Amino acid sequence: TGPLPRLTVIGTGYLGATHAICMAVLGYEVLGVDVDPDKIARLAAGDVPFFEPGLPEKLREALDYGRLRFTTDFDEAAAFGDVHFICVGTPQLAGSHAADLRYVESAFTELAKRIDRRALLVGKSTVPIGTAARLTTIVQEVSPAGTDLELAWNPEFLREGFAVEDTLRPDRLVFGVASDYAERALRDAFAPIIAEGTPVVVADTATAELVKVAANSFLATKISYINAMAEVCEATGADVNLLAKALSFDDRIGARFLKPGLGFGGGCLPKDIRAFRHRAEELGVGAAVRFLDEVDQINLRRRARTVDLVRELAGGSLLGVRVAALGAAFKPNSDDVRDAPALDVARMLYLEGALVSVYDPEANDNAHRLYPDLEYADTLGKCVRGAEVTVLLTEWEQFRRADPTLLGEIVAEKKIVDGRHALDATAYRRAGWEYRALGRPVVAETFDLGTHEKDSVAA
Ligand code: UDX
Repeated sequence: TGPLPRLTVIGTGYLGATHAICMAVLGYEVLGVDVDPDKIARLAAGDVPFFEPGLPEKLREALDYGRLRFTTDFDEAAAFGDVHFICVGTPQLAGSHAADLRYVESAFTELAKRIDRRALLVGKSTVPIGTAARLTTIVQEVSPAGTDLELAWNPEFLREGFAVEDTLRPDRLVFGVASDYAERALRDAFAPIIAEGTPVVVADTATAELVKVAANSFLATKISYINAMAEVCEATGADVNLLAKALSFDDRIGARFLKPGLGFGGGCLPKDIRAFRHRAEELGVGAAVRFLDEVDQINLRRRARTVDLVRELAGGSLLGVRVAALGAAFKPNSDDVRDAPALDVARMLYLEGALVSVYDPEANDNAHRLYPDLEYADTLGKCVRGAEVTVLLTEWEQFRRADPTLLGEIVAEKKIVDGRHALDATAYRRAGWEYRALGRPVVAETFDLGTHEKDSVAA
């Protein structure tokens, strides 16, 4: 491999900021670019504009090394970079299941117009299959560099809450390329990570694009599979937690992403399976992934079922019932409320007339912006004070650790729905709570469920 290439990262949202920061920490000269001057100013001042454990420390480290700078200037970016990573968002198009590609298209063309030498544009955003091929023609047409400007796709698999770890030590790297030059440039751009022994899969761009949506579809399907089993459990008196545990010992199935509960949300899985479904239909292979509609439906039914359990505990009606909703983020260790099952349940409870108080350790502000009508408490204690039903919606450590006896002294009624199988049912029942969870039988509140509670399926 040659000398380290200079990297630009276009789009400093969740994915781009993490990538830029981690690459600078690894030794590259990196220029982060965004059209939003506020974001750029905050990052340049050492402030990460979203919640991600460990990332602020890495940002300050990278800034101290002097290898990371930020700009809103595309001319500067075009002149600086040998390899340009495009990390802008591809949200769900309003009123459709398709992906909105306007940010991707504009990032590629704005940059390409200004590049007049050999360089590589690398898409990292999740896009419909065929996007890279289409963009290649466009960028080579608008760029003074012509066919010296090449395009590659390098999908990103990072999880929120583990973004630094997943970027520095990914399970694999996937390079979608159309030439040896592109492969070499990508190998140079990831040299320290490859040197650690990370597997590299080199493929065409269509395969690289497909890997990402196929992976997310598989994960979503696995979650909906166990949640479908939870529905069967509810009809039979079986216990989905024990079922998942028993299944997980089969190595072919495995314990990960087999955790039943309120289901998946966030900025990726829901929109990615819908966009994939949409794209497959366009490609004439809709039937191949029609099951993803079911995956989506199973997932959404868990939210309605959680509302049912709260209503049951409330005695049949939610009208005027004080409900404490614990959690708003789509998962713990994140302040992200995009398509969050937690917030959706809180909203549904509210629409049925419940007086909902929401508390999330990190996501209250984002939740408030999205649903200003709900009440937000700034501590767990204030949230549950006087609650007639409590519902756990995001499995933050703070909620797992809460003492059922102390909580019991604050609430009006000791009734709890555990939407994430995160609480020790036995401990709650011993402390006098009525405890309900999705896919688990209603047992006599005095019945001791025994030791299996303590080691339920690994998260
Ligand atoms: C996901 C993919 O994991 C990642 O590879 C991709 O790059 C982006 O999308 P992320 O959205 O950060 O990452 O969240 P993830 O940890 O995968 O969780 C997704 C959702 O599934 C969460 O709402 C979580 O609560 C839920 N989930 C996860 C379950 O309900 N059960 C499980 O067993 C696992």
